Amino acid sequence: MRDVVVIGAGMTRFGELWNKSIKDIFVEAAQNAIEDAGVDHIDSMYVGAMSPGLFVGQEHLGAVMADYLGVNPVPATRVESACASGGASFRQAFFEVASGASDIVLAGGVEKMTDGADVTDTLATAADQEYEVYHGITFPGLYAMIARAHMEQYGTTREQLAAVAVKNHRNGAKNPNAQFRNEVTPEQVMNSTMVADPLRLLDCSPVSDGGAAVILASMDVAKKLKKNPIRVIASAQASDSIALHSRKSITTLNSVVKAAEKAYRMADKKPSDMNLVEVHDCFTIAEIVVSEDLGFFEKGKGGEAVANGWTSIECNRVPFNTSGGLKSKGHPVGATGIAQIIELYEQLNGKAGARQVKDAHVGMAQNMGGSGASCVIHILEAK
Ligand code: COA
Repeated sequence: MRDVVVIGAGMTRFGELWNKSIKDIFVEAAQNAIEDAGVDHIDSMYVGAMSPGLFVGQEHLGAVMADYLGVNPVPATRVESACASGGASFRQAFFEVASGASDIVLAGGVEKMTDGADVTDTLATAADQEYEVYHGITFPGLYAMIARAHMEQYGTTREQLAAVAVKNHRNGAKNPNAQFRNEVTPEQVMNSTMVADPLRLLDCSPVSDGGAAVILASMDVAKKLKKNPIRVIASAQASDSIALHSRKSITTLNSVVKAAEKAYRMADKKPSDMNLVEVHDCFTIAEIVVSEDLGFFEKGKGGEAVANGWTSIECNRVPFNTSGGLKSKGHPVGATGIAQIIELYEQLNGKAGARQVKDAHVGMAQNMGGSGASCVIHILEAK
């Protein structure tokens, strides 16, 4: 396989973008990425999106976006893997460049969630319809069960869950593209409206609109454009049972464990080599469980780690979700995996402004679908 590098990135602000259509959102992000990369064409493109048909009545997103972006007749394909659609889109683009089939590929992601669709029902289509959804469970409920089990098994506390939200809002406050740029206190999190016990409003990622895109290219193209090469040194993916009840344990996300093993092997790196990590904190408990399953902390100690500040930018031990994460930056589901890559790209280029991690040269992005039925992990390195 050839070396693959990221040479450009662009995104919209995340939030309720009521005056923009899904097409406007994607095209804005993609045009910004093309301009940032300084390329005069793309060879192909991928669009990650979870459920545009149910959210806004639009399918065939590859063709729609290629048309509105004005890049016909390039091949354009929509990629779907629930909330991991963005990560999966990036992975397809990575392989297309790595294989030598194309030199310049756009990987994007988009979702428009606030146009009036029933968001909770639409998101629940990513769970097992027969054995989970028909019995009334939704994603906040599924993650609440994971949280309860983790609290029971490892003594994880309500305060530790709140520490994730406090940290991510603090980081998001420094991100101009974040949906929520306000800091929150532990008391505000623990007194916010109950959603699914023990998860409260401020434990949840929000409902968001947004788009994100990056340009991947061969090393030859990057050299010609005199780009600082941010190499993709690992791309890994794994799956697990769609329903929680089929798993041996619900406090470990096996797709995360397996994808991480593959990613570390491919990159020839270990957790202690990472200077920053973007993880899929769709609910506060998810960041805690994932931080353990990626091998950063002993099983059951993720809550303690975040409460001790070990994952904060200020501590500089291993900063998690410097972008604000899904919690504060927002979670337009199809765009999330690409926005994570953009955070790594900015950090590794030293362009993350007030949230810059000192001497960042290796970073990981972990993006997952459903309650961890799919997981995509990438590792990027500045060389
Ligand atoms: N974090 C912080 N603030 C939030 C928020 C969140 N997750 N969700 C909403 N808010 C704010 C709104 O901005 C609004 O503030 P305002 O009164 O100052 O304008 C207020 O809280 C109420 O917003 P509203 O839109 O009425 O909230 P809601 O009750 O309809 O939705 C949730 C709240 C938590 C139920 C919804 O965000 C949700 O379903 N999140 C989970 C999404 C999800 O499952 N994603 C997939 C993961 S696998």
